[in-house]
Amino acid sequence: MTYVLDPAWHAERARLENISALYDPGTAELCDRLGLAPGWRCLDAGAGTGGVARMFAERVGPDGEVLAVDADTRFLEPLAGGPLSVRRMDITAEPLPEGRFDLVHSRLVLEHLASPEPVVRSMARAARPGGWVLLEDLDWSTVRAVDPPSPAHERVVTALLTALAAGPYDQCFGRKVPRLLRAAGLRDVSVRAVSLPLPADPVAGQPAWELLVDQLAPRLLAAGLVDEDDLDAFHRLWRDGDTLGFGPLMVSAWGRRPDTAGA
Ligand SMILES: C[S@@+](CC[C@H](N)C(=O)[O-])C[C@H]1O[C@@H](n2cnc3c(N)ncnc32)[C@H](O)[C@@H]1O
Repeated sequence: MTYVLDPAWHAERARLENISALYDPGTAELCDRLGLAPGWRCLDAGAGTGGVARMFAERVGPDGEVLAVDADTRFLEPLAGGPLSVRRMDITAEPLPEGRFDLVHSRLVLEHLASPEPVVRSMARAARPGGWVLLEDLDWSTVRAVDPPSPAHERVVTALLTALAAGPYDQCFGRKVPRLLRAAGLRDVSVRAVSLPLPADPVAGQPAWELLVDQLAPRLLAAGLVDEDDLDAFHRLWRDGDTLGFGPLMVSAWGRRPDTAGA
């Protein structure tokens, strides 16, 4: 398994928790729309710090089942219990349980994979006939938007996209997700795309965004893509009480496994 970001980075837990805080409400809303209810069996693939898995466990209750899998389960293991179980696995190398789940979910994982198609097919097979697969990944087409204009923002965003492009990371992946769902044989495919505003919060800044830049900063500096002044200016933007920028588009797409062959 290859991963452009460093799981051992000292603030990786904080980075993942901030992502979760930013996107969990939208994920919960979509899952409720798909009918998530007591007794459902749910899978979260690449579950990170477990925000979605915990939401699943609350919704499905004691008669349901939640399986949270990740290549790195250190943040998930303390959550195991009741309907929630945790399994360490590389989803590119090992098959998921087949035909079992009412809802299979994955967020911000497939965009990191050099070859996501077989994993989408594995997720489709993990759904029971009639079950849902909900995939959520980013598309970075919105990230240059900022007001007022800022050369430091432009330099940092360009450097970030350059660093991401060097790894097995597809910054256009979001737009491809509905097509991958259809190619995996799923029906009734729908899509929602949301670019969250990154508000200028004078106290909190925008941790989900800033921590990604912080993690990659040594690489950006070493490659000469930015200097320390650019990074300082970038961080000040989110606390200046005036700047408005946009995060990457979060593309959420979902489809249903056919009830019977040929249905
Ligand atoms: C950016 S985090 C997203 C976490 C969570 N899905 C969320 O949205 O809050 C990506 C997660 O995918 C996991 N991951 C990456 N490649 C994986 C693989 N091949 N198999 C299983 N998990 C993987 C990482 O360990 C990490 O926890």
